[in-house]
Amino acid sequence: MNYWTPQNKPLKLPMVCAPLFIVSGPDLVIAQCKAGVVGSMPALNARTPDIFDEWLTRIERELSEHDAEHPDHPSAPYAVNLIVHKSNQILEAQLEVCVRHKVPVIITSLGARPEVNAEIHSYGGVVLHDVVNLIHARKAVERGADGLIAVAAGAGGHAGALSPFALIQEIRDWWDGPLLLSGAISTGQAVLSAQLMGADLAYCGSCFIPAEEASAVPDYKQMILDATSADIIYTDKVSGTPANFLRQSLQRVGIDLGGDRPEADYGDLLGSAKAWRDIWSAGHGVGAIRNAATVAEIVDKFASEYRAALSRAGRLAA
Ligand SMILES: Cc1cc2nc3c(=O)[nH]c(=O)nc-3n(C[C@H](O)[C@H](O)[C@H](O)COP(=O)(O)O)c2cc1C
Repeated sequence: MNYWTPQNKPLKLPMVCAPLFIVSGPDLVIAQCKAGVVGSMPALNARTPDIFDEWLTRIERELSEHDAEHPDHPSAPYAVNLIVHKSNQILEAQLEVCVRHKVPVIITSLGARPEVNAEIHSYGGVVLHDVVNLIHARKAVERGADGLIAVAAGAGGHAGALSPFALIQEIRDWWDGPLLLSGAISTGQAVLSAQLMGADLAYCGSCFIPAEEASAVPDYKQMILDATSADIIYTDKVSGTPANFLRQSLQRVGIDLGGDRPEADYGDLLGSAKAWRDIWSAGHGVGAIRNAATVAEIVDKFASEYRAALSRAGRLAA
């Protein structure tokens, strides 16, 4: 293993499973970590800091039971996503829970806050900050992030607009610390490609939405299994920030993007439909997600594709 991992822990695959609003909870995180990849969830998915506290207690208990039973393939570290923007009014309470549990990896998004980073560093935690451009990347490092997550075009959720090739290269020009890449990474070949481009780890979200352990509703899971990249709409009209959504989920709430109205003012059309809950997000990588499966099966598939890609790289180099 010649790439950075949190706390130098070995991973089955160079992968961090991205936090998914509404979709990821303790079941998903536990399954991901047991499968040997870093599992994560947004703290906001727990309705209150007390529930968040209970979730972390359960995650730690089940992972340490797993480690005692399987010393030969221990679980990977887990991560929590904190929205550090001022609009998150329970950030302080969430942070207190994280510090008490010594959460190994914190993924910060929407702003970089030195005082938040300092609290996480106080117990030896690692902070990864997600960025969509160089300005945010430099600011995150100046403010004390330990690593960067480059969110490129085609990612699920609030995606960037830059090609992963450009984004990774321009960050690697000046940053040799931990670097993750996200955006449409739905195969083991893509994981290896991310590493060949200069990333340490791949950061994958959409491919876990249909997982058995994920909390997405069945219709959302099926929509992802049926979709291709042509079904992904990049727009700021749903949540106020540019993000990728499934066309069929917009149609489901009565918003038809057909014809000559690609930039319709959905605001008027949304009614009571809510982004994320009723209008579903996914990235360009949906075309490679075809079967309902458990997390362990998904990670196994990635791992065998990754091994095949490594041998192909070996043949190309020969
Ligand atoms: C349904 C959904 C919800 C998401 N929620 C969050 C979130 O709460 N916090 C966050 O930092 N990123 C969130 N993201 C972005 C992911 O963490 C990650 O950047 C993205 O899924 C990676 O791209 P991929 O889906 O193409 O693999 C979300 C993405 C999706 C698809």
